[in-house]
Amino acid sequence: MIILKYPPVHNIIDNFAVILDSFIMIIAAIVVTDLNNAIGKDNQLLCHLPADLKFFKKTTMGAPIIMGRKTYESIGRLLPGRRNMVITRSSDYKLEGAEIYHTLETALKNCTEEKVFIIGGAEIFNHAFPMITEIYRTVIKTSFVADTHFPDINTMEFDMDWQECHGADEKNKYDYCFQRWLRL
Ligand SMILES: NC(=O)c1ccc[n+]([C@@H]2O[C@H](COP(=O)([O-])OP(=O)(O)OC[C@H]3O[C@@H](n4cnc5c(N)ncnc54)[C@H](OP(=O)(O)O)[C@@H]3O)[C@@H](O)[C@H]2O)c1
Repeated sequence: MIILKYPPVHNIIDNFAVILDSFIMIIAAIVVTDLNNAIGKDNQLLCHLPADLKFFKKTTMGAPIIMGRKTYESIGRLLPGRRNMVITRSSDYKLEGAEIYHTLETALKNCTEEKVFIIGGAEIFNHAFPMITEIYRTVIKTSFVADTHFPDINTMEFDMDWQECHGADEKNKYDYCFQRWLRL
């Protein structure tokens, strides 16, 4: 049970009130982007940044993670220690160890945890965006050629309350910043 300063989600999406009969759930997005909000190309991430993988693991551990079918296939395995929830329109899609849903809304209605993470990709981020109240964004300080993007974070709607920046090193080829954005 958690009450935060964010606007109740049912103020944003009416038909989500059912989720909120007994508690308010934080719907968070976690994403790594370049300077132009690019997130992927050819169903892969844009680069390998070990520090971000570590941050992703630490941040999401124990919480449900919701992803599109293409992102699941791009990762290629279940992520341990978390409910893996995969969204697909295919009625016969099966995946041992994962929960399959045919709409994002149904996946969210099946969560009772305090916080869930939407982990991508672009199609799922776009659909979920109006419901998202927290964004964990890693910004890689470069520009990649890409075919998928995260929605623009409008500073009229979100405030960055935390940022931690790091320089490139022998393991991480680019400068990067971890950021947390909260819906106003
Ligand atoms: N940088 C990051 O943080 C990050 C994170 C995640 C992913 N990515 C990248 O993003 C790219 C993948 O993104 P994407 O947009 O192509 O794919 P996606 O969002 O991962 O998956 C799209 C698929 O999800 C299902 N889906 C989407 N909306 C749905 C809905 N409303 N109802 C039911 N099913 C729905 C459909 O599956 P079916 O076709 O099976 O019906 C659709 O084809 C890859 O390059 C990946 O590496 C980047």
